Amino acid sequence: MAVITNIDDLKRKYKRRAPKMFYDYAESGSWTEQTFAENSSDFDKIRLRQRVAVDMTNRTTATQMIGEDVAMPVALAPVGMTGMQAADGEIKAARAAEAFGVPYTLSTMSICSIEDVREATTEPFWFQLYVMRDEDFVDNIIARAKNAGCSALVLTLDLQILGQRHKDLKNGLSAPPKLTPAVMLDLATKWGWGLEMLGTHRRTFRNIVGHAKSVENMSSLNSWTNEQFDPKLSWDTVAKLKEKWGGKLILKGILDAEDARQAVKVGADAIVVSNHGGRQLDGALSAIRVLPSIVEAVGDQIEVHMDSGIRSGQDVLKAVALGAKGVMIGRAYIYGLGAMGQAGVTKALEIIHKELDVSMALCGKRDLNDVDRDILLVPKDFEGEWA
Ligand code: GLV
Repeated sequence: MAVITNIDDLKRKYKRRAPKMFYDYAESGSWTEQTFAENSSDFDKIRLRQRVAVDMTNRTTATQMIGEDVAMPVALAPVGMTGMQAADGEIKAARAAEAFGVPYTLSTMSICSIEDVREATTEPFWFQLYVMRDEDFVDNIIARAKNAGCSALVLTLDLQILGQRHKDLKNGLSAPPKLTPAVMLDLATKWGWGLEMLGTHRRTFRNIVGHAKSVENMSSLNSWTNEQFDPKLSWDTVAKLKEKWGGKLILKGILDAEDARQAVKVGADAIVVSNHGGRQLDGALSAIRVLPSIVEAVGDQIEVHMDSGIRSGQDVLKAVALGAKGVMIGRAYIYGLGAMGQAGVTKALEIIHKELDVSMALCGKRDLNDVDRDILLVPKDFEGEWA
């Protein structure tokens, strides 16, 4: 087995191991995938300033996100169906995050439930909520997250309706997969995945099955979203949920300074500048491109995090230098999970940490908390002039 040295190596291995339907689910943006692509390519436009003859001993990437100590400011993002990328995927990812000292966020649309992950870990994790029409379900899942000691509620605001990802429709994405001839043919080459999946009983959306009133077609994310997600979600709803939760609140999916100001008004603890990894509004600007304007608008009043497009430690460094207090990674750790299970998530975190640490040092910094825009070369027209 070739030596794994970067996130792309994990992605290649993941592609060989995971069923096509789940690889495609992770590796898609909506419609033309313009925003999905630009999330990453815009990072490449930013360059780093090399500095020399600076003492590089005693470096640290340790800092805090929402007051929690983190080994580096990189949280694992909520990713739907993680437990289909590898058996018990959420448990494996949460354990890797815990051992590394970074936050793990469990998605509402996970395969392993809040209780499954709680039982398998010792540190509090974050819980991501989608607001459903069924208020009892929402009240109940908030209570379950509280019971499990979750230390933050991550409320996703950019997915009341689902952006169309063509491949998911063509592949008939579901959990567990329906055994059509095409799926059987694919699974015949993915026996490692299949054997592990046969070894777990966690193969449905366990946060929901048995907790929500009976719904049609629970296995399909598409149908479930259409039927159950609340399209009426408003800032009033956000305020009510904040009250119900009573703990730290992170609002995810902010891409506009006006919305960021609303988040401040509602009293959230942090926002995540995000376009959902390019999976929702295709044609939206990349997250790294809008980050500076949002930091400028609200950065002194609320903690600003970002996600969408991070595939390396250099990307993390650039986001931090532009004012993000932390970032979330989604695909970057899913590649690791799908490639090698828990060890793959650890590997992804190690790769990102090393890239972050070495790049920071070569930019002349020893402490990530001292990193600012000064280490960057940003093209003059990076944010763009839009009318
Ligand atoms: C759901 O969160 C998705 O992006 O698929």
